[in-house]
Amino acid sequence: MTNADKLTEFISEVALQARVSELGKQISADYAEKNLLVIGILKGSFIFMADLVRAITQPVELSFITLSSYHNASKSSGEVRLSCDVDMSIRGRDVLIVEDIVDSGNTMSYLLKVLQIREPTSLKVCTLLDKPSRRQTPVSVEYCGFQVPDEFIVGYGLDYAGKYRNLRNISAIKLN
Ligand code: IMP
Ligand code: MG
Repeated sequence: MTNADKLTEFISEVALQARVSELGKQISADYAEKNLLVIGILKGSFIFMADLVRAITQPVELSFITLSSYHNASKSSGEVRLSCDVDMSIRGRDVLIVEDIVDSGNTMSYLLKVLQIREPTSLKVCTLLDKPSRRQTPVSVEYCGFQVPDEFIVGYGLDYAGKYRNLRNISAIKLN
């Protein structure tokens, strides 16, 4: 990809696939007897979600939710918005939220509150990436692909100003 921003590979495509397949196995085992509903957070989780659900061996139901906390910038505005809700009831369901990255934790803690009120049987979080050093609001993450340091990360669904979601690997970006 030609661009003015400097990208450095952080997690290779092969390493991503291997870890996603492990997560899929673990989730399949943990939810073996359950009727799992997987909710992806758009847009960032779309590629991870697609690979993860195909690594889960039992039938699952899917839904998506759109949240935004970043507005075309690498810094959070601190404000979380629910711009598109799930298209089904989650009451009495075993729900797994799939996220691209948990950074300050503000987005996830907001979403957990909103969904918990709807009385799912269980509500857990699977994030591809976790930046624990940046946490402002504590959130419990049951499944995590990789912990990453405090760098801005793009690729495999994650963007900077709307770009780089289609990179096959995860890269750190040096912002100009
Ligand atoms: P939080 O509310 O600070 O935890 O932010 C979570 C959201 O910010 C994620 O869903 C991402 O969309 C975005 N985000 C945080 N860090 C990064 C990053 O390094 N690259 C791309 N997006 C990020
Ligand atoms: Mg996101």
